[in-house]
Amino acid sequence: MSYLDSPILVTGGAGYIGGQTVLCLLDLGAEVIVIDDLSTGSMRPFHDQVKFYEGNIQDQTLVESIIRDNSVQSILHFAGSIKVDESVSDPLKYYDNNTEASRKLIAATVSCGVPRFVFSSTAAVYGTVEGQETVNECATTIPLNAYGWSKLFTERMLRDANRAHGLQFAALRYFNVAGADPKLRHGQFLKNPVHLIGRTIDAALGSAGPLEVFGANLPTPDGTGVRDYIHVYDLAMAHLAVLSHLGENPASVTMNLGYGRGASVLEVMECIENALQCKVPHRFVEARDGEAPSVVANIDTLLGALDWVPKFDDLREIINSAVAWKKKLDDTERP
Ligand SMILES: NC(=O)c1ccc[n+]([C@@H]2O[C@H](COP(=O)([O-])OP(=O)(O)OC[C@H]3O[C@@H](n4cnc5c(N)ncnc54)[C@H](O)[C@@H]3O)[C@@H](O)[C@H]2O)c1
Repeated sequence: MSYLDSPILVTGGAGYIGGQTVLCLLDLGAEVIVIDDLSTGSMRPFHDQVKFYEGNIQDQTLVESIIRDNSVQSILHFAGSIKVDESVSDPLKYYDNNTEASRKLIAATVSCGVPRFVFSSTAAVYGTVEGQETVNECATTIPLNAYGWSKLFTERMLRDANRAHGLQFAALRYFNVAGADPKLRHGQFLKNPVHLIGRTIDAALGSAGPLEVFGANLPTPDGTGVRDYIHVYDLAMAHLAVLSHLGENPASVTMNLGYGRGASVLEVMECIENALQCKVPHRFVEARDGEAPSVVANIDTLLGALDWVPKFDDLREIINSAVAWKKKLDDTERP
């Protein structure tokens, strides 16, 4: 039996990545149930095709009734708070909405006997990555902020729930997610983007001030920070491959999701300048304390375990898609 034959609950399915994954599941004919409190996400036309519950995953009674009423067999858990800077100024929000909320969701999962759980973790669990060309899942995990810790604690709870209750899980450590749905049905809605590609597009279009580039003399080929950018469609499709993998293999898995290749801030800026045919106003500022010059995924686990072939493994494709989405949003908002 395929995982597509049994109902899948998506938490945070009105958000950027959860929404894209819902679309990919619907495209393949899966039965999808969504719970989202709409704190940062929003309803999209494709939500007509899912059973949508507006609610908080901390409401364990609600979650248990959703699971039972819909005979849920797999949970994809995207819901959470995602701003690294905010997690430094308001850490308890992150331990509440990421760690405690996940604890309650895992408790509901265990009490209802759902066999599979896929969790959106992050490369932020690694913290300072020094002297490694790429980082693999066995690397030391000492996060630099409450966001990373809140996710690492959830990974820990999943490992313990696996040992104690047999809950099979996948903890997916995303690197830098960008781009939009290839058919432009969905993308990121943030007014003030927190990630580099969104911020750079806004700076280029004049909808935000000049881009601050943190560090000009880092030990990287062009002196600016290097990160591993992955297209949101490929990332979403990896979740579907993970569900298949869990269905066929009893073990749980912790896995990086990236392309295993880095791009620098200057490369990102150049691509955006080419896509928009204008310059990106920017200024160089001090590198941020503790931030690693280069963070690139080792994806041997991903490639070894999953039947997954990325479609958009090219920085230009990712950026063109993000730019096309931004233009669509601006056109929609124009009176
Ligand atoms: N965007 C990235 O580059 C990135 C990188 C690494 C990890 N992640 C993780 O991926 C997941 C999804 O991120 P995203 O970029 O789609 O964020 P997002 O803010 O677009 O989506 C999160 C969704 O969860 C909902 N939500 C938040 N708290 C909730 C709660 N308590 N109950 C119910 N719904 C709730 C929000 O309304 C939103 O729709 C997050 O867990 C994030 O930490 C994202």
